[in-house]
Parts: sequence; structure tokens; C-alpha cells
Amino acid sequence: MPDIVTVGGSPASPSRCATTLGHVRRSMAGRGFTTDAVEVRDLDAQGLVWASFDEPTIRTAIDAVQEARALVVATPVYKAAYSGVLKLFLDLLPPGSLADKPVLPVTTAGSLAHCLALDYALKPVLAALGARHILQGVCLLDSDFEYGPDGAVVALNPASAERLHQAIDALAQPLGKPHPQPQSDPLAPVAILEEVPA
Ligand SMILES: Cc1cc2nc3c(=O)[nH]c(=O)nc-3n(C[C@H](O)[C@H](O)[C@H](O)COP(=O)(O)O)c2cc1C
Repeated sequence: MPDIVTVGGSPASPSRCATTLGHVRRSMAGRGFTTDAVEVRDLDAQGLVWASFDEPTIRTAIDAVQEARALVVATPVYKAAYSGVLKLFLDLLPPGSLADKPVLPVTTAGSLAHCLALDYALKPVLAALGARHILQGVCLLDSDFEYGPDGAVVALNPASAERLHQAIDALAQPLGKPHPQPQSDPLAPVAILEEVPA
């Protein structure tokens, strides 16, 4: 049973959501937690559309979510809401699936104006699935990320990285395990990256 399962709802690859969730998993692993990942775009597409609960990739993903002690759910803002891809998967979760788990919602968005989608769109769906401990959430703008020449995300700006790290701390707290040293990775604050010896 993984401590933390991340659910990524972007249909794109590479994806800011997926990169951010990879950072969250490494950060949690560095604190001694076990993690697992569900990327909805990797599940069986026909199974998602036909609501095939027992299609093997979907069954495995549903089981992972239900067995997790905590969840991080990330989606790009699409048309001022969550992605349709994420909703296809959330619709397959049995009622009450998120009860008794802290849930950290994360959105990435092109516009600050649509960060509120986290509160008015994503959080109500999580609550409808039984989540009673929904953390404050983090909205990251495309302009918060730093990109390499190939367009891949290489870092997050320091202020946003700090917000994300605070959210990770808040998610870890109710799980009740000690906090060993953090690991460096591409989404660590720039200031920390600069301290890494050449
Ligand atoms: C189809 C589509 C619709 C989008 N709609 C919005 C939107 O309504 N508001 C917004 O702020 N950004 C919007 N965006 C921008 C994405 O939310 C943003 O680029 C996000 O970081 C993408 O995440 P990803 O890299 O994980 O796919 C949209 C992007 C696409 C492709």
C-alpha cells in the first residue's frame, strides 16, 4: 500500500503537471514515504470512455487511489475547469473513495485569472468523492516554470517552489513520519540548485 499516490490529469506529454508530480513523489520519498503514480493519459483510453471499471489498467489505478493514505491530484486548467481526461478517471472512482485521506489539489494554468478553478471546480469534485481533508492547494502558472532549450521544464521559480514545498509539508504532516533531508531535483528552488557544487 503506497503512502502517497499522485494522480496526473494532463493529456499532454511532456506535462507541467506530470513534472510537478514527479517532484512531489521524490520529495515524499526523501521523507521516507512510499509513492505511486497514476497518469490518466496512460490508462486504457477506450476503458476510460466506456467506463470499464474492470479494464486492467483502470482497475489497478482505482485500487492504487483507494489504498493510498494520501493523494495529490493535479490537472491543467482547461477551459476554466479541470481537464476532461482527469474527470473521466474521477468518475470511475467509487463513492467515498477519498474519505479519510488528505488530498492536495494542484493545478497548472496559463492565466492567473483561472487559478480559481482549483477552488470552484476541482475541490467540489474531490469533496463529492468523500474527501474531508482537502489541503489549500497550489496553482502554478506556466510562467512560474523555467524551460530548457527543448521546451522541457527544468525548474520552478523560487517563490513557487517554496509554495509547493509548503504544500508538501502540509500533506506530510498528518501522515506522521519523520522528515529526513530533502533531495535536490529539477524543481527545487533555484537558490538551492545554485548551492549544489559543480
Ligand atoms: C485545450 C487547452 C485549454 C486551456 N484552457 C486554459 C484556460 O481556460 N485557462 C488557463 O489559464 N489556461 C488554459 N490552458 C493552459 C494550460 O492550463 C496550461 O498550459 C497548463 O500548464 C498545461 O499543463 P500541462 O503542461 O500539464 O498539460 C489551456 C491549455 C489547453 C491545451
